[in-house]
Formats: sequence, structure tokens, C-alpha cells
Amino acid sequence: MSLAPATRKSSYTIASIPGDGIGIEVIASTIRVLETLTKTLNTFTLSFTHLPWGSAYYKETGTYLPKDALSTLRQHDAILFGAVGDPHIPDHISLWGLLLALRGPLQLYANVRPVRTFPGTTSHLRDAAGKPKSIDWLLVRENSEGEYAGQGGRSHIGQPWEAATEVAIFTRVGVERIMRFAFKAAAARPKKHLIVVTKSNSMRNGMVLWDEVARSVSQDAEFKDVKWEKMLVDAMTVRMVASPDTIDTIVGTNLHMDILSDLAAALAGSIGVAPSANLDPERKAPSMFEPVHGSAFDIMGKGVANPVAAFWSSAEMLRWLGEDDAADMMMGCVERVCDAGILTRDLGGKEGTAGVTDAVCKEIEKLKSR
Ligand code: NAD
Ligand code: IPM
Ligand code: MN
Repeated sequence: MSLAPATRKSSYTIASIPGDGIGIEVIASTIRVLETLTKTLNTFTLSFTHLPWGSAYYKETGTYLPKDALSTLRQHDAILFGAVGDPHIPDHISLWGLLLALRGPLQLYANVRPVRTFPGTTSHLRDAAGKPKSIDWLLVRENSEGEYAGQGGRSHIGQPWEAATEVAIFTRVGVERIMRFAFKAAAARPKKHLIVVTKSNSMRNGMVLWDEVARSVSQDAEFKDVKWEKMLVDAMTVRMVASPDTIDTIVGTNLHMDILSDLAAALAGSIGVAPSANLDPERKAPSMFEPVHGSAFDIMGKGVANPVAAFWSSAEMLRWLGEDDAADMMMGCVERVCDAGILTRDLGGKEGTAGVTDAVCKEIEKLKSR
């Protein structure tokens, strides 16, 4: 496996899939912010293809994705995704119809979830061990197999002895590529520290292969400076709360990191700021950027969703495209807005989605005079 470098261009095509619920609200805000940024910087352009795929599309057509969806997406440089999930459609239908029908087939095998305490916001760990704590972690999630392989089935349906299986699949290729990605990611950070999350005490097959491959990748000369350790997932939850400053980069399976990334987001402040990048590190397919959160049935349509997770996800998209300066400038603006106390309710503020979006756009426009 080699990590392919970005090829910078003067114009990028972005496939936008807002999906459902607050996904639609935060992606509309994100496109406004990105358009303000590109107009202000005037160094590259973004052209958006607006794709209506989501639960309304499913109710109308009987499918979440048209037959040519993957080839349509492959014509783009990147994908911006909101969220999917509808109160009237079973979650396994909506998620396997849309989001999971993209991550696996496009082989976006590395799901990267940075977690950081934002200026102006408070970590729930502020009082941990008696001193203020801030968080700066990089979570790496295996995103193509494991517990999400989709293998299994149901037998004796409707009978009292009905049975169901959900089979996790760990392949040597799948584990090795995510381990190499994680070791590289850890090596690129100042602390050069990686925690390999596992559960090989009870899960004696797939998780033992996982550990063996981690050890063999760690012995690669390229990673000789990376300090790494193995940690059982249950103990990892305790460490995240009790000793957050002993953590830097974490790699784990699809399900373990799904759960740990929501915990990390809540500890850092709110799920409303947590971004995620679904990467094809070899760049054969367009990578997909989306907030960690879902469609949030309880707040959708109310105009109160925090758009920061989607903003930050789109900054990660710019970074992936090679536009690091633009990404840094955008995140600087988002941080100044948070620092000024312009926050949504999930972070203890009073602003709505539109108020935060307006404030970020204004902050971006100030870049013109710098
Ligand atoms: P959720 O992330 O949608 O919401 C969990 C809680 O966090 C809710 O109280 C919600 O109001 C709050 N929240 C989430 N995002 C927020 C934001 N930006 N600002 C403020 N508050 C925010 O998770 P859920 O309730 O478990 O799932 C709802 C639906 O979304 C389900 O159908 C689920 O399957 C789906 N889902 C989709 C994705 C995705 O598309 N990536 C991710 C998670 C859940
Ligand atoms: C996430 C989400 C998805 C996941 C669900 C909605 C399938 O929770 O991106 O964290 O588990 O991957
Ligand atoms: Mn999740």
C-alpha cells in the first residue's frame, strides 16, 4: 500500500449528498461557507453536483441510490455527505441503502476522526484529575469490513426458535492496510504514539489476527520511531475519561471506533463538532467527508443543529485535496467564532445554525483585508 499524494488543481468537482434531517441543514451551511471561502481567497474554485439521494428519494423511487451512483461519484474529486436516517424507515435499510453502500464499494477503508477541544468550548473533562484538560486525538477506524462486513442471515423467521447471525470478517489485507495507515498517521504527529484498540481476550480469532498484524507492521523500519501499545477496548473507555493526556493516535475496528468516536466527541465538547473523513488512501476513488453525527430526529427542522462538524469535515476535504492553506484559514475562522462565544445550544450557546454560519462567513470575508 502506498499513500498517494494530492494533485492540486485550479478547480475541483464535489458531489454533495446532504441526505436527511440535519444533514440537509448543515450541508447547506457548509456549501455557503465553502463558497464564501473560495470567493474570498480566489485561489481555486469548487463546483458542486447536488445529489438528492436520501430518504425522500427512497420514498419516491424505492431505492436510495440510482444504478449508476458509483460511476457518477467517481467522476468527482471528493464527496461531501450530510447524514442519513429517517424516523419512518428502519435504520438498517437507510444506512445499508446509502452510507454503507458507498464506504465499502468505494473501498474508503480509512475513517479518520480528529477530536479536539475547540477554543471557547469546554471539555467535559475539565475537572479530570483536578486540572483543566484539553483533548487532541486522532482516531483511525477500519471502515470496510470487521463487524460491518454485512455477513450473516436469519433462519426460522417468525418461529420461537428464530436465529440470526452477524459475522465479523477480518482479512489480513484489510487489517494490514489500516494498521499501516494508522502507524503512518501516528508517525506524522509530534507525539508519535499509537494505541491499537483490541478485544483479543474474548474474541479469539479475528481480534487475534488484528493483534498479530499490528505487531508485524510495527516492526517495519519505517515505524521504528512510533511508540505503540495494545489496549483492550473496555479499558480504553476508562483511559479516555481518566487519563486523556496519555492518548494521541488510536486505531480500532469498525464497531469499536464507531463507539469510541462518539465518546471522544462528547468528551471534547459535543458530537456537534466532530468531523470524519472516509479515505481511499490510494486515491483510486473520491474520498467522502461527513460529520460523525446522524440526522438527529429530535432537532431536525428546528434550525439549531451545530454546523461546525460539517464545516470541519469540509476543511478536512480541502486538506485531502491538497488545499492546506485554505483548510487552515477556514478552521481559524471557525475557531475565532467559537472563541467569541457564538455557539449553538449543544455547546451551551444560544445561536442557531444560521447565526453560526453567518458569523463564520463574516469572519472569512475579513481574510480579504489581511
Ligand atoms: P445522532 O447523531 O443523529 O443524534 C444523537 C444526539 O446528538 C441527538 O440528541 C442529537 O440532537 C444530537 N446531535 C447530533 N448532531 C448534532 C448537531 N450537529 N448539533 C447539535 N446536536 C446534535 O444519532 P442518533 O439519534 O442515534 O441517530 C439518528 C439517525 O441518524 C438514525 O437513523 C441513525 O441511524 C442515523 N445516523 C446516521 C449517521 C450518518 O449518516 N453518518 C450517523 C449516526 C446516526
Ligand atoms: C457513523 C455512523 C454510522 C456507522 C452508522 C449510521 C451506520 O454511526 O458514521 O459513525 O456506524 O458507521
Ligand atoms: Mn457513529
